Amino acid sequence: MPAGVQRCEVTPMTLSPWHRRALLVLLSVCTYTSLLVQGCGPGRGYGVRPTPRRLAPLKYKQYVPQISENNLGASGRAEGKITRDSERFNELMCNYNIHIDFKDEEHTQADRFMTKRCKDCLDRLAIAVMLQWPRTRLRVTEAWDEDGNHPPDSLHYEGRAVDITTSDRNTSKYGMLALLAVEAGFDWVHYESKHHVHCSVKADHSVALERGGCFPGLGQVTLESGEKIPMFLLKPGDKVLSQTQSGQTVFSRFLLFIHKDCGSRSVFLVLGTEDGHRLAITPNHLLFRSSHFEADHSKYQAYFANRVQKGDYVLVHGSGRGVRPSKVTSVTLEERTGVYAPLTEEGTLFVDGVLASSYASVEDHGLAHWAFGLLRFLHSLSQWTQRVEVAKANQTEAHICNDTKQKCQMWGDTTIRAKGVGWDHNNYCQQNTALLVDSYWKTCNIDRHKQGNVHWYARLLHTIGRLLLDSEIFY
Ligand SMILES: *[C@@H]1O[C@H](CO)[C@@H](O)[C@H](O)[C@H]1NC(C)=O
Ligand SMILES: *[C@@H]1O[C@H](CO)[C@@H](O)[C@H](O)[C@H]1NC(C)=O
Ligand SMILES: *[C@@H]1O[C@H](CO)[C@@H](O)[C@H](O)[C@H]1NC(C)=O
Repeated sequence: MPAGVQRCEVTPMTLSPWHRRALLVLLSVCTYTSLLVQGCGPGRGYGVRPTPRRLAPLKYKQYVPQISENNLGASGRAEGKITRDSERFNELMCNYNIHIDFKDEEHTQADRFMTKRCKDCLDRLAIAVMLQWPRTRLRVTEAWDEDGNHPPDSLHYEGRAVDITTSDRNTSKYGMLALLAVEAGFDWVHYESKHHVHCSVKADHSVALERGGCFPGLGQVTLESGEKIPMFLLKPGDKVLSQTQSGQTVFSRFLLFIHKDCGSRSVFLVLGTEDGHRLAITPNHLLFRSSHFEADHSKYQAYFANRVQKGDYVLVHGSGRGVRPSKVTSVTLEERTGVYAPLTEEGTLFVDGVLASSYASVEDHGLAHWAFGLLRFLHSLSQWTQRVEVAKANQTEAHICNDTKQKCQMWGDTTIRAKGVGWDHNNYCQQNTALLVDSYWKTCNIDRHKQGNVHWYARLLHTIGRLLLDSEIFY
């Protein structure tokens, strides 16, 4: 492999001696300061891991957690029916667990179809039931529903919900059965009817992304030169359009990818604004929004993207350096390739022309930015030592970039260089999406052997945070 190719990995995923030393400092610093943060929050002692409450068997009509099923903290919202014809049908698994009775009243095996998370929880529950009541088994009366027997937004249509009983159908066991289901990991359990317990889970992709929230690989960032490039071509040291805490528009140095996985496909929220911007972003990523028109840019607060609704305002970047509020006019779900979470020095950046945060999963931009402070600092230092490597990476990526640009030009668009914009779908190279995708996969294959990673620092923070912070704050 040519030397230049190997340098193409933008993120140092392994620990250099420098990082290892830093990690020690970090552990103590983070632990200490997380305690402080926790100390300001409600309840719970300093640094004591909350002992899980031992719940009592559920009462009739009780549900756990005590929020509605489609809430983020429970199973999350419905994402659309899955039929045997739909592409998503392949995501469902067939549960052949011999310790579970499937009622299968439809005689289609539909009750065996479920998402992976649902299957995992059910398998765990089957064991718990046998341990609790010897000679009794878990019984599934309803899982995936393809016949439309449930309300329109039911999770049964996606294989994310099951109705269960015990094999002896002794209703006095169902309160306990519901408790066992909570302990088996179902995200929402409801002692719904005298005749069954309803359990549901989060969507698999939302669980997969719990720790990283991202943009797709072809999400565009704006460079200092005014050029818009797809995110996958970002390299350390590039300066991208972002905003300071006080609301000033600046070009901020791109440091590394907190999360980078070029090969995966995921469902993104796509927010459309009244002036034609379209931002694709994972639901757990932070985005700056205001519920009403607000001229002062510093008044826009970071929220999980899936809290953004039609009619909210986000900040968009127009021509030149002009940033202005724009109303969200549509929110849809679309599948895209690659997940990238770029960290900038300012902790913010404009993606597809819309202001977003570098952070995800924890709904507190300020806290996240502060917690990443040490990494940002270390990285600024290490960029000095890595200059040579960067220059080599630069060569390879410049080549790919050049390659695609030329192909764009071959397609007849000779204005690209003159205007300094190579990637703007709206203006140029519209027919060239295929070529762009081509170069995307070229880059992806180059660093495939090192992909699929959430940065170690982010993982560490997440673990510490989970132990010490209020769970409300997490996605
Ligand atoms: C039903 O379950 C309860 C609790 O496990 C048990 O006490 C009772 O004897 C069972 N009833 C029958 C008819 O099996
Ligand atoms: C990267 O390449 C560009 C030209 O393609 C050059 O202007 C720039 O200085 C290079 N950056 C580094 C760090 O070598
Ligand atoms: C880009 O392509 C042009 C035309 O083939 C070539 O002259 C130039 O050296 C290339 N630049 C890079 C950085 O590969």
